[in-house]
Amino acid sequence: MKTMKNIDSFTHVRGESLFVDDLMLRQDTLFGLVFDSPKAHGKIKSVDYSKAEALEGVIKIFTYKDVLGENQIGGIIPDEPLWAEDEVHFWGQPIAFIVAKSEAIAKKARALITIDIEELPVITTAKEAKEKGSFINAPRSFNLGNTQNAFTECEYVFEGETFSNGQEHLYLETQGCYAVPQENGNIKITSSTQGPTAVQKTAAKVLGIPMHKIEVDVIRLGGGFGGKEDQATPWAVMAAVAVQHLNRPVKYMLNRHDDLRMTGKRHPYSSFYKIGLTKDFKIKAFEAEFLQNSGAAADLSPAIAERTLFHATNSYFVPNVNTTVYSCKTNLPPNTAFRGFGGPQGMFVIESAIADAADKIGINKRLIQEANLLAENDEFSYGQIATEVQAQNSWFSAKEQYQLEQLEHEVADFNNKNDHYKKGISLMPIAFGISFTNTPMNHARALVHIYQDGSVGVSTGAVEMGQSVNTKMLQVAQSVLGISPDKVKLETTNTTRVANTSPSAASSTADLNGKATEMACNSLVERLTEVAADMLSTKKENISFKEDAVFVNDKKSELTWEALITEAMLRRVALSENAHYATPIIHFDKTKEKGHPFAYHVYGTAITTVTVDCIRGNYEIDSVKIVHDFGKSMNMGIDLGQVEGALAQGIGWMTMEEISYNNEGRLLSNALSTYKVPDIFSAPKTVETIPLKTEGNQMAIKKSKAVGEPPLMYGIGAYFAIQQAVKAFNPNYKLKFHAPFTPEKVLMGLYEK
Ligand code: MTE
Ligand code: HPA
Ligand code: MOS
Repeated sequence: MKTMKNIDSFTHVRGESLFVDDLMLRQDTLFGLVFDSPKAHGKIKSVDYSKAEALEGVIKIFTYKDVLGENQIGGIIPDEPLWAEDEVHFWGQPIAFIVAKSEAIAKKARALITIDIEELPVITTAKEAKEKGSFINAPRSFNLGNTQNAFTECEYVFEGETFSNGQEHLYLETQGCYAVPQENGNIKITSSTQGPTAVQKTAAKVLGIPMHKIEVDVIRLGGGFGGKEDQATPWAVMAAVAVQHLNRPVKYMLNRHDDLRMTGKRHPYSSFYKIGLTKDFKIKAFEAEFLQNSGAAADLSPAIAERTLFHATNSYFVPNVNTTVYSCKTNLPPNTAFRGFGGPQGMFVIESAIADAADKIGINKRLIQEANLLAENDEFSYGQIATEVQAQNSWFSAKEQYQLEQLEHEVADFNNKNDHYKKGISLMPIAFGISFTNTPMNHARALVHIYQDGSVGVSTGAVEMGQSVNTKMLQVAQSVLGISPDKVKLETTNTTRVANTSPSAASSTADLNGKATEMACNSLVERLTEVAADMLSTKKENISFKEDAVFVNDKKSELTWEALITEAMLRRVALSENAHYATPIIHFDKTKEKGHPFAYHVYGTAITTVTVDCIRGNYEIDSVKIVHDFGKSMNMGIDLGQVEGALAQGIGWMTMEEISYNNEGRLLSNALSTYKVPDIFSAPKTVETIPLKTEGNQMAIKKSKAVGEPPLMYGIGAYFAIQQAVKAFNPNYKLKFHAPFTPEKVLMGLYEK
C-alpha cells in the first residue's frame, strides 16, 4: 500500500532538520549548566560558590534566592522546587544554575563548587517507602463486584508478587532549550518539550510574570516518549530565570550523562496479586496492590498510577476486581511519563498472575487468556462499558492467520530435537484506552491560514516528536481542502499561535489536533463554497473541492483553487480559521472511581517466539506476529513504524534494559555501556503486522485509531515466551515475575534446582 511519507523524511536524511541544538544563536548568547545534588537525601549545610564565581567567564550562578515568583514546578501537586532550598531529595536534584560565556567554562565552574550535606536516610524502593509510610498522595482503588465473596466460589486461587523495573527514555535528542529576551521583559523560549503550555505556565509562575510575556516555540523533538511531557520544563524555566536577570539569551542542552542522572524514568512497580478461577478457567476475581516507585516528587505519578488501575485487567473481562495503587515517595529522581503511562506496568501483573495460575494448574497460559477475553458490553472495573470490542477478533485472527497450532508444533518439535537451545512461544493481547484519563485535558485547537496565493499554513497544539503527527495533520488539511499536499505547510508549535494546549501525549495528539484541524478546514470550505457557487452560478450543494480545483456535481470546473482564493480575497472573505475540539461523551467521577474516561480502546494480539541459548542464557526474539486494530489507518507506513518502534521499546523494557541505583540512590546504569537498549541484533528477527479489518471509530481522526503507545505492550509477550523456553529446559524452574528478564536471570533460571 502506498502512503504519504513522513514530511520530515527529506530533511531528516539530509541532516537538515532543525532541533534546539541547531538554532542560530544570537551573538551575546550565554550557556547554562545545572549544579545538582551529589547525595540522594540530606540537609544542605552550606554551598561554596566563591571559586566558581571567580572563574573568568562565569557570569552568574542562580539559586532559589533568585526566583522572583514561586520556586515551584510541580504540575499536579506543588511539591517540587525548581532549585533545592534547604534539603535535597534525590541524587541529581538541581541546586544551582551556572551561566557562563561557554559550556566549557560552565563545566569548569561546576567542578569548583563545594557542598556540605548532612545526610539523611535514603529510600530507593517502593516497598521500603510503603513500610515507612512515605507516600506522594493518598492511594486510589478501583472496585467492581465483590472479590471477597467471589474468591470463596473459585476452584483455584493463587497469590504472588511481581516487579517491573524502570526504563530510560533515551530520546536521541537530550533535554534542551534556548531562551531569548525580547522587548519589555518578554521572553521567547525554544524548547524540546511535549508540553509547550506547561513550559509557558511554569516559567510565568517561577518568574512571577503573566503567561502572555512568555512565548514557547517547538520545532520538533528528537524523541520524547513521555520523558518531555513534564520534564522538559525545569531547564527551560532555569534559562528563562537567567534571561530575566541578565537580559541576554541563554542556551542549555543537557549532555547525556547529566540527562540520565537528573531526569526521571518509567516507574518501577512492585506488585502483589491474587487471582481466582473457576474450573473452566474463567477469571472470577482479581485483586492487585501496586506499589509505584514515584521518586522524590509527584511529577505525573498520580496520573500514571491511575492509568495502571485502568489497565489492570488488560483485555480481559473480570467480574470482580479490587485494585489499589500507592504512589510511593522515594529518593530517586521523580519518575515520569513513559509510553504506556503506567498501563504496561498494570498489564504485566495480570499477565504474570495468569502465567502463575496456568503453571500451577498445569495448562497452557493461552487457555486462560482465551477464556477471558473481553466481549461486547462487558464492564471495565471503572464502569465504562466496552463497545466495538476487538479483543476476541484480534486474538482469533492472529491464531488463524499465523497458524498458531503449527507454530506451537514447531516449537515443541524444536525443543524435542534440541538439548541446548529451547524455544518458547506466547500470546499477548492488549486493550488500551485512548484519551487523557484526566477528562479536562482532552481538547485541542488549530489555526489554519490560507494565504492569498492559495498556499496553506497549519498551526496546531501538536508537537512533532518523530511519531509523524505533522504528516497526519497535513493529510487532514489537504484532504478537507481538496488540495495537493505540497500546498500545505505545518508550522512550528507555538503558544502565541495556539494557546492553552494539552501536552502531546496519551496517544491522543493526532485525534485531538486532527479533529480541530478538520473543523477549521471545514469552516473555510463552507465559506469558499459560497464564493465558488456564486462564481459558477450554481447551488452550494453542487460544489466540492478536489485536485486543486472546484468541482460542480463531481465534474471538474475551470475554476482552480488559486483563482478561487484570489476572488475570495477580493470579496474580503476571511481566509483564516481557528477551531476548538473537545472530545465528546467522556467523563469520570473520581469520588466514585466510575465513568466513561476513554473515547475508545485499541486492541490487538501478538504472538512472540524466542530461542534461548541454554548454555549461555542468551536469547533471540525469533519473530513477533501481530494483528493490530488500526481502525481505518490514514497512513499505514507511519502506523506500522509506530507499531515496530513501540514493540522494540516494549521488548527492551521487558528483557534487557536494566536501570540500577545503588543503596545510596546513585544511578549506576548511567551510560550506554551499562544501560543496554535493543540493537539490531536483539530486535526481533521478523516482525509481521496484519491490520485487523474493522470499521474504525468515529472518535478517531478519519477513523484512524491512535497508535503511539498501545503496541509497546506487545513487548510483554517476550517475557513470557522466554519464561516458557526456560521452563522447557529446566522443569524445576519456579516461575518468577521480575522484569527485565536479562540473560543473567535466564541463566540462573536455567540451572535453578
Ligand atoms: N514515536 C516517536 N518516533 N517518538 C516519540 O517520542 N512518543 C510516543 C509515541 N510514539 C514517540 C513516538 C508516545 S509516549 C506517545 S504518547 C505518542 O507517540 C504521542 O504522539 P501521538 O499522540 O501523536 O500518538
Ligand atoms: N496519558 C498521558 N499523559 C498524560 C495523561 C494520560 O492519560 N494524563 C496526563 N498526562
Ligand atoms: Mo506519552 S507517555 O503519553 O508521552
